[in-house]
Amino acid sequence: MCLLGWGNVNRRLFELLEARRDQLQDQYGFSPRITGIATRRLGWRVAPEGFHSHSLPRIGVRSAAAAPSPGNLREWLKAAQADVLFEATSLNAQTGQPAIDHIRAALELGAHAITANKGPIVHGYEELSRLAAKQGCRFLFESTVMDGVPIFSTFRESLPLVRVEGFRGILNSTTNLMLTQMERGLSFKEALGKARDIGVAESDPADDIEAWDAAVKVAVLARVVMRMAVDLKQIDRHGIGHLTGEMVREARAAGHPYKLVCRASRKGHSLAASVRPEMVPLADPLAHVPGTSSIVYFETDIFPGLAISEIDPTLDTTAYGMLADFVKAVGSNWQKFAFA
Ligand SMILES: NC(=O)c1ccc[n+]([C@@H]2O[C@H](COP(=O)([O-])OP(=O)(O)OC[C@H]3O[C@@H](n4cnc5c(N)ncnc54)[C@H](OP(=O)(O)O)[C@@H]3O)[C@@H](O)[C@H]2O)c1
Repeated sequence: MCLLGWGNVNRRLFELLEARRDQLQDQYGFSPRITGIATRRLGWRVAPEGFHSHSLPRIGVRSAAAAPSPGNLREWLKAAQADVLFEATSLNAQTGQPAIDHIRAALELGAHAITANKGPIVHGYEELSRLAAKQGCRFLFESTVMDGVPIFSTFRESLPLVRVEGFRGILNSTTNLMLTQMERGLSFKEALGKARDIGVAESDPADDIEAWDAAVKVAVLARVVMRMAVDLKQIDRHGIGHLTGEMVREARAAGHPYKLVCRASRKGHSLAASVRPEMVPLADPLAHVPGTSSIVYFETDIFPGLAISEIDPTLDTTAYGMLADFVKAVGSNWQKFAFA
């Protein structure tokens, strides 16, 4: 397996794979080996026998475990003999690149591609899904929205033929944490620092504050569960950059706390979608979603109101979403093992 990106998400995934090694062997009959790790600064590192805690690459240090470093993505995937690529590089909301190229290369070489990166879903979902099907591989992305909570697999596997008419919710952990912290007395800057400290903020804080991350999640949900292509420019997007601690505390005291609310609904053949800070009445469950927690209400033709929420997700939940995708992709024999 190859890890592309060696930041918060893939590091935690590495730890989780190590921690669940025995369970993966006992229940599913396979033993994962991470043979490639790469980032821009690290380069393309390969360890054919597998990276272990003691041989993990460090920025600026040529790894003791490494074979001669390949020069590019495809050479790296081939040298590492990747069966699975875990793509967790930074979000590029505008184009989805270079993550789309990473995933395309893995699929073309016959590896499953699993990503936490929303960019490739917004900008490359159809192409990459078609390519995965052609190659007999899986392209899975459960961790892109709500940190690994099973949204896409719920619709794909448990709600066939259901038509989603729209949704509303709180989908950005960083801004929700910041608003909660500001209600408790922190300034805007201190609240952003807190989000960075716990590893939920995007590499570029503008992606959270200017609501790009939330808008991209709206586009991902619209594309996958509503089957509607949406251009990011179509989403009426407003961030929280203008809110001060004082404004946020006053709104909470007045019984209408600020929340960054995401909305999407079908209007004939097109989609009306927005992300903006709203003063939400206390009677609305959205008003009570604290910290890094998230919630989404789907309106469907079968279930008029279907809510999925998560309380206090951590990096573990994001890493778990990728682990769960991995088991789905690789464990075609899982039932045999699970119920043997
Ligand atoms: N953190 C979360 O809670 C969370 C939750 C759900 C989804 N996600 C998504 O998961 C992805 C990773 O998040 P993260 O928190 O792990 O980010 P991060 O800590 O900033 O790490 C990003 C990693 O990607 C590498 N990278 C960036 N651009 C690259 C490129 N063009 N080629 C190769 N490597 C590249 C970076 O290393 P170099 O700078 O050396 O290239 C770094 O190792 C993002 O797309 C994010 O939106 C994150």
